[in-house]
Amino acid sequence: MELADAAGSPVASVRSLVARPVSAEQIAKAGDGAVPLHRVEWVPLPDGDAAVRVPAGPEGWAVLGARPADWAWTGVSAYPDLAALEEAAPSVTLLPCPVPELTDGDDADALPARLREVLGEVLGTLQQWVANERLASSRLVVVTRDTDGPGGLVNAAVEGLVRSAQAEHPESFVLARWDGDDSSVRFFPAALAAAEPQVWVRADGVHVARLGRVAREEQTARPSGFEVWGPQDSALITGGTGGLATLLAEHLITHHHITNITLASRQGPNHPGATELVNRLTELGGNITLTACDVSDPTQITELLTGLPHLKAIIHTAGVLNDATLTNQTP
Ligand SMILES: NC(=O)c1ccc[n+]([C@@H]2O[C@H](COP(=O)([O-])OP(=O)(O)OC[C@H]3O[C@@H](n4cnc5c(N)ncnc54)[C@H](OP(=O)(O)O)[C@@H]3O)[C@@H](O)[C@H]2O)c1
Repeated sequence: MELADAAGSPVASVRSLVARPVSAEQIAKAGDGAVPLHRVEWVPLPDGDAAVRVPAGPEGWAVLGARPADWAWTGVSAYPDLAALEEAAPSVTLLPCPVPELTDGDDADALPARLREVLGEVLGTLQQWVANERLASSRLVVVTRDTDGPGGLVNAAVEGLVRSAQAEHPESFVLARWDGDDSSVRFFPAALAAAEPQVWVRADGVHVARLGRVAREEQTARPSGFEVWGPQDSALITGGTGGLATLLAEHLITHHHITNITLASRQGPNHPGATELVNRLTELGGNITLTACDVSDPTQITELLTGLPHLKAIIHTAGVLNDATLTNQTP
């Protein structure tokens, strides 16, 4: 048997195939029927102590945009925009992603506004990058900074955007999360030489993302906080009529015996499958309230929360998908 890809190029050939009988008992022993859970884990770059082997001064690198004041990239030239960068034709371009700082005086809209601003800037750069043939042989490395608090939320959005862009343009973009420590800058050359789509550059070395299997014990362990769950306590799931919410509600009822569940979505009880959904979860043992609430409206969410005095957990799944390829996305 010859196997080929869609273009007809050979992939594998099979000289012989031997089948042997497997009993139902043997399959049952291999697992308990549960779908194994996986998660992204950061593991040290397999290539050993990169710092010893790699020179500190990266040649042919550039920084796009303003170089943050605390960057220790002394040997790397900064270019204000892509037009200036084109002339330099660097092999690697670092795009520092700004970390927004919020102050006590900022209102509730400040973070979403900053997030959209940063996301729009990064999107614009990614779009211009793929449209620019002169930069085709260069890689753009979007550098996010490890940070807690509001900056972390912005980083998460930027990282999600870059990962989507990588799916379309795997050769063009690299995502580098940096711990912001001067001592870890020396690891960047090794991190980028590794040809990994995403790296985490930390004082203890370069880490790369790998898919890891969650241990069976961890999958079945009760998350902390659940042991103090009282009979009146309840959970709120936003986006409550959606696919993820339904799965989560089932899981809470059947695995954690959390039965008081409020499901909130904009249509709420007017959702076409509302009655079936509530009936099904009730049959499983749930005490379900399906309510109409637009969680992007502060007044509606305040009203909802005020009516839930024993609320113990909120799970957010509300969202609207508006997919587009990189060049068709709008800020
Ligand atoms: N399913 C997946 O495998 C997957 C993977 C990655 C990411 N996601 C994302 O995770 C989110 C949930 O996924 P899903 O598959 O469950 O999506 P879904 O089936 O489309 O459900 C989305 C739910 O959110 C509700 N909703 C939307 N806007 C809302 C708002 N402003 N306030 C309250 N409720 C709102 C919708 O109901 P109403 O229209 O009535 O408000 C619906 O109940 C989506 O954003 C999706 O893109 C899903």
